[in-house]
Amino acid sequence: RRSKQLEGRKVLITSGPTQEPIDDVRFVSNRSSGKMGAALARAALLMGAEVTVVSGPARAALPLQANIVHVRTAQEMLEAGLAHCADANLIIGAAAVADYRPAVRHRGKIRRSAEPTTLELHPNPDIIAEIAKAAPDAITVGFAAEPSRSLDAARDKLARKGLYAIAANDVSRDGIGFDADQNSLRLITLDSPVVFDSGLMSKLGCALWLLDRVAK
Ligand code: C5P
Repeated sequence: RRSKQLEGRKVLITSGPTQEPIDDVRFVSNRSSGKMGAALARAALLMGAEVTVVSGPARAALPLQANIVHVRTAQEMLEAGLAHCADANLIIGAAAVADYRPAVRHRGKIRRSAEPTTLELHPNPDIIAEIAKAAPDAITVGFAAEPSRSLDAARDKLARKGLYAIAANDVSRDGIGFDADQNSLRLITLDSPVVFDSGLMSKLGCALWLLDRVAK
């Protein structure tokens, strides 16, 4: 039953961290492993979808049956996402996009000095919000890594980013979320007052659970 649920559907996933170069040898990034995005890609393939993953530099292996677009920066992820969103039925923002990028990318290597220094950072675009705007007919799902049990911030993101659903995971709990092999999701959607709870599962289990819910 589940294996055919996304037959004939196109799924676009953003995954992994982004890297924002400071100079040719340094960058600003985060701890994202890309495991959740890889699990989503595997789950969507198992359910019969045609899958495109726009992936930042992540350690987690992506399934070979997916169409994989490798990017580095948030700007590149936005451009690749916009280029591939037009015919997508379902779009999932699983990437941990760096919120800021260095205002200037220095060529070569910045030399060390004994003086204190500052790094000016500029905000990056909100990729899933931009893609949701560009693909109004697609179902768009975001993730919200929250340091608490409260869903207020996740509800705010759902509205602000123009998404259909948001999957919140509590990153303050040990062994789930960032870099872990397991996750526990709570899903809120535009059209239901009910909060759906996945319970603690492998990331592949969470991905199948999430896709099953939004496919309904
Ligand atoms: O605002 P916050 O980063 O918590 O929102 C998380 C959700 O938004 C995730 O789905 C993430 O992929 C997406 N996001 C994005 N571009 C950003 C920041 C977040 O696509 N610049």
